[in-house]
Amino acid sequence: MSLNPEKNVPRPELFDFHGVPMIHRFTDNWENVQNFEARPDDILIATYPKAGTTWVSYILDLLYFGQTSPERQTSIPIYERVPFLDVFIPEMMSGKDLADNLPTTPRLIKTHFPVQFVPKSFWEQNCRIIYVARNGKDNMVSYFHFDTMNKGQPEAGSWSSYFQRFLQGNVVFGSWYDHVSGWWKKKQTYPKLHYMFYEDLSEDTGREIDKLCSFLGLSISPELKEKVLSGVQFDNMKKNQMANYSTLSVMDMKISPFMRKGKVGDWKNHFTVAQNEAFDEDYKEKMKDPTLHFRNEI
Ligand code: A3P
Repeated sequence: MSLNPEKNVPRPELFDFHGVPMIHRFTDNWENVQNFEARPDDILIATYPKAGTTWVSYILDLLYFGQTSPERQTSIPIYERVPFLDVFIPEMMSGKDLADNLPTTPRLIKTHFPVQFVPKSFWEQNCRIIYVARNGKDNMVSYFHFDTMNKGQPEAGSWSSYFQRFLQGNVVFGSWYDHVSGWWKKKQTYPKLHYMFYEDLSEDTGREIDKLCSFLGLSISPELKEKVLSGVQFDNMKKNQMANYSTLSVMDMKISPFMRKGKVGDWKNHFTVAQNEAFDEDYKEKMKDPTLHFRNEI
């Protein structure tokens, strides 16, 4: 796999795809991705972009393979251990092929699809699915910085224009509201969906790992739990080349590192008072389900 062919490629444009703003690299392999053959023990990690996907991917990888295959930790980047099913960049990366060829059991697979885009075999096979949600304010800030540094994403533009676009849902993978609510609704009818929050993980990682283990039917030793807790600490992941995306040249870490801050409440360093009020108004209008509750600070 070549990791450096995108240096001078223009930024992609958003277009409407079945009602969701998308870019070609996440739709060009649509038929194949939709026909992906999930296995009953596959585990799907689903998120809106920048909600903590890598964090939870790494937790799961360590839970399953931290003891049996320690060499994975130093030799295989996280985006190959946990393939991104949706992505297709000709001659460079096919998440579907990577997932097909994963040698592990279980296979850990990542998606940013809104729930209605998930290949049907995951439901048919009754796979375990972990959804991670993050409060909209921090999610927006993180996505803004990501779009400035990732040349494979549409131009972020100014913060104030990004703010509007995010609220309108005019970013890759569409509206944050639709995403978090769509998956929340699915949880009511699909029991094998574990819906978790970035803020909870940040508040007490050990507690959330326990909940994950209970969902996954795993019983782990105190040593492994310690190992996972230490490995997935923000500072450790930030300096871990196999977890920090430094091996992907499409991301310009000089503009903004992938492991940027890893905090709850960083939105306060970005939102003006007026933007905060506008967000809260917008939230009241769009977030109709009172059972889905986000914490903007902890
Ligand atoms: P920030 O940009 O707010 O720092 P994703 O993996 O879905 O792309 O999410 C990336 C966000 O998760 C980034 O947020 C990143 O710093 C944060 N993150 C990744 N690993 C983390 C960890 N171990 N602890 C806390 N935050 C983490």
